[in-house]
Amino acid sequence: MSLSQALQYLQENHDRFLAELEAFLRIPSVSTTEKHAADIARAANWVADSLRALGAQNVAVVPTGQHPVVYGFLPAAEAEAPTVLIYGHYDVQPPEPLDLWETPPFEPTVRGDRLYARGATDMKGQVMASLKAVEAAAHGGLPVNIKFIIEGEEEIGSPDLAGFIAEHKDLLAADVCLNPDSGMLGPDWPTITYALRGLAYFELRVFGPDHDLHSGIYGGVVHNPAQALAELIAGMHDENGRVTLPGFYDKVRPLSADEREALSHLPFDPTTFYLKQTGVPKLWGEPEYTPVERTGARPTLEINGLYSGFIEKGAKTVIPSYAMAKISCRLVPDQDPDEVAEQLKAYLKAHAPATIRWELDVMAGGPASVTDIHTPAVQALARAMEATWGSKPFYRREGGSIPVVGQMQQILGLDSVLTGFGLPDANLHAPNENLHLPTWQKGMEALVRFFYLYPQAAR
Ligand code: BES
Ligand code: MN
Repeated sequence: MSLSQALQYLQENHDRFLAELEAFLRIPSVSTTEKHAADIARAANWVADSLRALGAQNVAVVPTGQHPVVYGFLPAAEAEAPTVLIYGHYDVQPPEPLDLWETPPFEPTVRGDRLYARGATDMKGQVMASLKAVEAAAHGGLPVNIKFIIEGEEEIGSPDLAGFIAEHKDLLAADVCLNPDSGMLGPDWPTITYALRGLAYFELRVFGPDHDLHSGIYGGVVHNPAQALAELIAGMHDENGRVTLPGFYDKVRPLSADEREALSHLPFDPTTFYLKQTGVPKLWGEPEYTPVERTGARPTLEINGLYSGFIEKGAKTVIPSYAMAKISCRLVPDQDPDEVAEQLKAYLKAHAPATIRWELDVMAGGPASVTDIHTPAVQALARAMEATWGSKPFYRREGGSIPVVGQMQQILGLDSVLTGFGLPDANLHAPNENLHLPTWQKGMEALVRFFYLYPQAAR
């Protein structure tokens, strides 16, 4: 079967593909909360069944420390063909806050040309695009061997995936990993991601009095832990938006003049873009770097959650006994997540007052990654995108993290080619997550073309 027939197959089966995606999205496979364990299992089995329906061999749902990894293999029609390992994750972020969704997160709904549901873009829509691109290409004999590795712990930092990869090196052997968990700059701007930031995630707990106190009786003699936590957090940046943890920037690889120049070519004004995407009145951050550099190539420290005291409606005069902050750092080459944990501890040792006690939990972590854009796989994907959109792709650094990319590099020596067909206003991790369906359709087309172009490029 020819490329044109495979592309026609995509067109003809679009409605069925959409219906299958909707069924996948109805499973609330939230990885971070234990109450969804059964849904996680359901989603893993759903993926395994889809792989079997594709005709995949050796389909397995492999248990790990927490959520299973799904594997499957489809051989190419010809013996000499290269092997593409396709990565995906079937887990999703929690849907909260629920009241901000226009339609319920696990009742996928089409409005206009978008499909709304948790996971629509991140990344069940991308998993489905990969499955269906393989289905279309497989129709008359696959031009490449395909292996699938679809995990269920990405949104919690892939804590068990490195172990799985290390134990299954032969099973996963491939020429390249295709990872569609990134996104596009806009519907007309196909994008290849060549760098991801790493992550170091923490929970900081501050303890004050051994029980909540009347703030009138004790206010003035007790250091309020909410205040102490706020003071600690406030000191973690200087007035120029730089992180003050000792040694934080020591290993940050500087951007070359060439790369700064390359990153400055965008089809839109980045300041306007970020203002529009976020709704903030003014951007913030290190003044000597552009917004694109600050999100792609500079490390950050963010407060992801805060808790202390009375947070219900109404007033309560209390000195809370406890305060907590979730803190994460986005890392760039060559920062090390373990060293950043040490830097945060050193900061706390130096700055925590004697009036409180603190504890720090080190949670998920992983290093940043950079991939070479001159590889056959990236060049084949670039040509596939150009044939689909009629314009060359943009190469960008992405500020988000995908732990598997570094894990595959380290354990298998395997490079990933990173792409994805979600748009900047897809509301990842937020209410009203959505998938732009025309771009999704084009994404499947680009993947089919990639499967046809890659064997020639790799030869
Ligand atoms: N798909 C995202 C990563 C991403 C976001 C890539 C935006 C490109 C653009 C992924 O599912 C994700 O959110 N990862 C987490 C990883 C973390 C929990 C280790 C992230 O970046 O916060
Ligand atoms: Mn994702």
